[in-house]
Amino acid sequence: MKTVLLGATGMVGSRIATEALARGHQVTALTRSGLAPEEGNPNLTAVAADAADPARLAELAAGHDAVAAALVPPRDGTDPREPFTALYDDVLRGVRQAGVRRLVIVGGAGSLLVGPGRMLVDTPDFPEAHRGEALAHHDLLARLRGVDDLEWTYISPAAEIAPGERTGRYRLGGDRLLTDAEGRSAVSAEDYAIAFVDELESAAHIRERISVVG
Ligand SMILES: NC(=O)c1ccc[n+]([C@@H]2O[C@H](COP(=O)([O-])OP(=O)(O)OC[C@H]3O[C@@H](n4cnc5c(N)ncnc54)[C@H](OP(=O)(O)O)[C@@H]3O)[C@@H](O)[C@H]2O)c1
Repeated sequence: MKTVLLGATGMVGSRIATEALARGHQVTALTRSGLAPEEGNPNLTAVAADAADPARLAELAAGHDAVAAALVPPRDGTDPREPFTALYDDVLRGVRQAGVRRLVIVGGAGSLLVGPGRMLVDTPDFPEAHRGEALAHHDLLARLRGVDDLEWTYISPAAEIAPGERTGRYRLGGDRLLTDAEGRSAVSAEDYAIAFVDELESAAHIRERISVVG
């Protein structure tokens, strides 16, 4: 499979790159820095480009089977909602211009439901430092739900996602936050990447939000 991966050097993006390359995918890794998520892999092409440049994204993505995105909302303390939606509006333009239909996005956990109409981000223990990022993702998902000309999938990680072990085990959910017996919601970035690439390959959840816990 030939995939353009936006944000390929990030905490999550680099693990998706590693997982896809291990399965023999061809990956075009796009970041502003142009750094490669790993060295010396003949199936990897690293390019420097801004995902907010639709014409450049269209040129780079043309001929690929899918665009995968692990982009991040601004984390400089400013309100990230409008800039993040604007960034993804540009990504949507670029993907359409490229003639690619499949778009798989690394999402956030904050908009997952913990009760009827109640999101994780609305709970009292939700960390204030992550609130803006969670709301930016909430807005992005709302935007995507109005997109019917692309085959998008938005994949929320567990509440906790961090580098860890590749166990090969994960559970898939939908809009509801999944937890373990102790009430914890966590996944390693490596296991999340497995679920992400499985969905990239299977296209089993078109125009849906799914969620992944370890
Ligand atoms: N539990 C949760 O809900 C949870 C927890 C963690 C992360 N997440 C989500 O997971 C996603 C990835 O987060 P992360 O922590 O992996 O981010 P990260 O480590 O900061 O990586 C971001 C990546 O995006 C690239 N990038 C940023 N802006 C770009 C642009 N305009 N054009 C092209 N590339 C760009 C960066 O490279 P350059 O700087 O070189 O461009 C980098 O490769 C985010 O959407 C985040 O909200 C969710």
